[in-house]
Amino acid sequence: MTANPLAPGWLPHPDDANALAATVWPHGAMRSASGVIALGGAEAPALAAEFGTPLYVVDEADARGRAAAVKAAFDDAFTAIGSRVHVYYAGKAFLSTEIARWMTDAGLNIDICSGGELAVALAARVDPARLGFHGNNKSLSEIDRAVDLGVGAIVLDSVVEIERVAAAAERHGRVQPVRLRINSGVHASTHEFLATAHEDQKFGVPLAEVPAIVEHLRTHPSLRFLGLHSHIGSQIFESDGFAEAARRLLAVHAELLRGGEVPELNLGGGFGIAYTSVDLVTPIEAIARELARVVVAECSALGIQVPAVAIEPGRVIIGPSTVTLYEVGTIKDVAVSVLESDETTAIRKYVSVDGGMSDNIRAALYQADYSVRIANRASDAAPALVRIAGKHCESGDIVVRADYLPGDVEPGDLVAVPATGAYCWSLASNYNYLGRPAVVAVRDGAARVLVRRETESDLLSRDMGIE
Ligand SMILES: Cc1ncc(COP(=O)(O)O)c(C=O)c1O
Repeated sequence: MTANPLAPGWLPHPDDANALAATVWPHGAMRSASGVIALGGAEAPALAAEFGTPLYVVDEADARGRAAAVKAAFDDAFTAIGSRVHVYYAGKAFLSTEIARWMTDAGLNIDICSGGELAVALAARVDPARLGFHGNNKSLSEIDRAVDLGVGAIVLDSVVEIERVAAAAERHGRVQPVRLRINSGVHASTHEFLATAHEDQKFGVPLAEVPAIVEHLRTHPSLRFLGLHSHIGSQIFESDGFAEAARRLLAVHAELLRGGEVPELNLGGGFGIAYTSVDLVTPIEAIARELARVVVAECSALGIQVPAVAIEPGRVIIGPSTVTLYEVGTIKDVAVSVLESDETTAIRKYVSVDGGMSDNIRAALYQADYSVRIANRASDAAPALVRIAGKHCESGDIVVRADYLPGDVEPGDLVAVPATGAYCWSLASNYNYLGRPAVVAVRDGAARVLVRRETESDLLSRDMGIE
């Protein structure tokens, strides 16, 4: 069979449009003998029947396993150079009380960036000392609450925040540990990174201003300076951007050591994952080793002690753990011109599902690519190029821009989109008054609800015009 000319260059025509690429699916995903997809031992059609669709299905063992693996990779690499690592799970990727507990069980701390995320962590009974609080515009009440609770570290994002956090710490009679977020000029996305003197973005303070800012910060007895923080981007496949940021930060870190202690260096998150079978990701162990190598080499060139290192991964831990199930509603074969100047057309099969940009906005927002499989059966039908569209009133409402499915995909089929753990549920909306889907965790064949589906009364509950 030949590839559909409308398929993007990166998408290979599959030998088997039922296959589950191991790099993209949770560890516990498989096709059972009857052809249905099972996740964490639970069959997708049974999950859809019990909990409805769309449905986020999180493979608990996979998420816990990845959290432990990331921690072990960085612990091993940094212990080998005589350092220590603090791993913070970036809650913005996907946070619920259960997920917070899985992370702390695995020995991770939690990175939050709003009062709402703080509330979830507290509801999960996470020790506030294990929280790091980010954000370029924390409100006065968020700062006050965080300081009062004894949040382990607050990442200061501007000079204004120095005064705000110092004042809150004085009010509560505390010494608040703080990091300072740096705009390092390094910005990375997937395989490439860009290094400029000044990056045009809202986060952090310019590297050149750091010595004066830290000198000022140190005059506040209610603040304890932990070190510098940088986050250079997301979905990064190579270690070179992190290495460049580490070099830039360590040069300033060395200068700051002349004025007092600097126990830590925080390199942020951003480690990439595979969304499609062609994405080749550097294993996290290799990234950890490379970062440790750069840190130790740089410290020895600067003649300073290796600091403790902190990282804040989100996507690499939770992204691959989750699969979204949808029911197929309508299908259209749309004839599309292959070239603008040509009469020749090819068929793109638009498969519409019962969710869309309200449960996964990444394709619409970032042109992100995903893959898809039929989950309720396997099929020998020839592969057809499909686009998985949502049900919203928006032509950009696409979940999977391009993949091949067996050509006999039909209304009523259940389809599964893998790698939807990060920045899908957390960016979900009620657009068109769709209720947000439930989140269920699967493990050893059993399923339980982590977050229930939103109901019509949830949707109407804040409307004060109802008589
Ligand atoms: C400051 C900071 N840390 C960590 C992360 C987590 O990034 P990722 O989920 O790509 O690892 C982000 C994501 O935006 C971030 O802004």
